[in-house]
Amino acid sequence: MLAIIGGRGLTELANLEITHRQVMRTPFGEPSGAFLFGILNQQEVIFLARHGYGYTIPPHLVNYRANLWALSEQGVDQVIAVSTVGGIRADLLPGTLVVPDQIIDYTHGREDTFFSMRDSSYKNIDFTLPYARRLRSRIISSAAQAQQICLDGGVYAATSGPRLDSIAEINRYQRDGADMVGMTGMPETSLARELDMDYASIAVVVNYAAGRGDNQSGISMEVVNTTARLAMGRVCAILERVCVEEACDVS
Ligand code: HPA
Repeated sequence: MLAIIGGRGLTELANLEITHRQVMRTPFGEPSGAFLFGILNQQEVIFLARHGYGYTIPPHLVNYRANLWALSEQGVDQVIAVSTVGGIRADLLPGTLVVPDQIIDYTHGREDTFFSMRDSSYKNIDFTLPYARRLRSRIISSAAQAQQICLDGGVYAATSGPRLDSIAEINRYQRDGADMVGMTGMPETSLARELDMDYASIAVVVNYAAGRGDNQSGISMEVVNTTARLAMGRVCAILERVCVEEACDVS
């Protein structure tokens, strides 16, 4: 079963035929909102708005463990996460879609593992390739079929937020090899791996990162929100195509 986690600008999937909603509970607390179960292009999916349906949960307060745990409990084995990012690499202009292939974790103070008790059954998960290869490829081929430009690969720097970054921080992330910066990639990516789920992300560049492009002295959140909203139609076109491919695969 496929799940789609929506971020800024994506609190609903326009063409999802909703069959039911379910409030979930987990040993880690409640997920960001009720799960929406439905059919997207003949494919059963679960949709969850990461920041809540009213966009009220900031990135550092998202209960990532509850979200992933509850999805896993529902039989989800593939997760496509949509998130917005600031572009660090010169070609990552606002409006660009990219499927990251690596991630660096700069977050702190988040509940970032299910192995939080002394327990001999804990696992050192392999995180060499943080994103699922097959799912990444499916997104990229679906984007081509949907005639949407979507870049293949890039390093995502995950910060805690909710504040944006200083120019010096962005310079540091770039020296470290980061191409884009966002606030929700971790621990979502590693928690999915802990639960043996395939996880890939569509990152939507909504602004130049601090000190890049036209952002030399500040970021307008109004522009960020508008850019996010405008890009989500293209993201949905890709997601719908992913579902066609998935449905074909199953049959
Ligand atoms: N920095 C951090 N997170 C973000 C940004 C940014 O510039 N844009 C969207 N999410």
